[in-house]
Amino acid sequence: MTLTDADFGRASASHLGRQEYAYFSAHEIHAYYGESYIVQGVSFNVHEGEILALLGRNGAGKTSTLRTIARVDSPALTRGEIWLDHKPLHEMKSYQAAANGVALVPEDRRIIPGLTVEENLQLAQIAPPHGWSIQRIYELFPRLGERRKQEGVTLSGGEQQMLAIGRALARDVKLLLLDEPYEGLAPVIVQEIERTLVEIKALGMTTIIVEQNAIAALKLADRAVILDMGCVVFDGTAQEVLDNAELREEYLAI
Ligand SMILES: Nc1ncnc2c1ncn2[C@@H]1O[C@H](COP(=O)(O)OP(=O)(O)O)[C@@H](O)[C@H]1O
Ligand SMILES: [Mg+2]
Repeated sequence: MTLTDADFGRASASHLGRQEYAYFSAHEIHAYYGESYIVQGVSFNVHEGEILALLGRNGAGKTSTLRTIARVDSPALTRGEIWLDHKPLHEMKSYQAAANGVALVPEDRRIIPGLTVEENLQLAQIAPPHGWSIQRIYELFPRLGERRKQEGVTLSGGEQQMLAIGRALARDVKLLLLDEPYEGLAPVIVQEIERTLVEIKALGMTTIIVEQNAIAALKLADRAVILDMGCVVFDGTAQEVLDNAELREEYLAI
């Protein structure tokens, strides 16, 4: 049997402690909301250009894990290491993680009220390093171009999701974190966003996608990590999850 890159990444994460190989690596991370111990020693790798589906039931700790990676204040990281492209995210504040290429697209999308679509995108580029031009974002999401003068918060849910993703791409992203990008959206809009995520993937964007719609996420993803009660219970290929009904029933209820 020959070892794949993924095997090597996992092996080095568990045996060497410090991960030097994978592009992104969370190693034994623990995080708390106040006294509540939520992220309980989570480890996984994401290789450059890969899409990882981070799955698990409601309350499993998916959002908390993404927030920990983005280094927002809460939950607080108390132990463990997080590396992205040789940079120690675990030593950073959220603004430093953002400057080093982490872009979190949160579940609630956080479109800034009082600003147009274009102003929301411009605001993302107020400080370097810049990513895509606004023109290029409009090419990916023509609806945003058509609505560039419209106030961002008046967009439909699907368009707001496009704006939230566009805003992330406006910065120099190395790791895109998508928290339930399909939530509350009509199937036709989900398909539209899926199509753009395929395009973004083709450009080599390294992505972690959290989705209740696990099948949709697994179709897009190369690999999957399943969380349960703040711990990793599965780490493997997306296909393995699609093929394993027992695993899906136990941890994903699908
Ligand atoms: N701000 C918070 N304060 C305290 N506990 C929280 C907070 N946010 C989430 N939790 C708890 O953390 C656990 C994991 O939540 P979360 O990461 O949002 O799960 P998921 O995204 O997988 O549904 C849940 O038990 C939830 O109640
Ligand atoms: Mg969540």
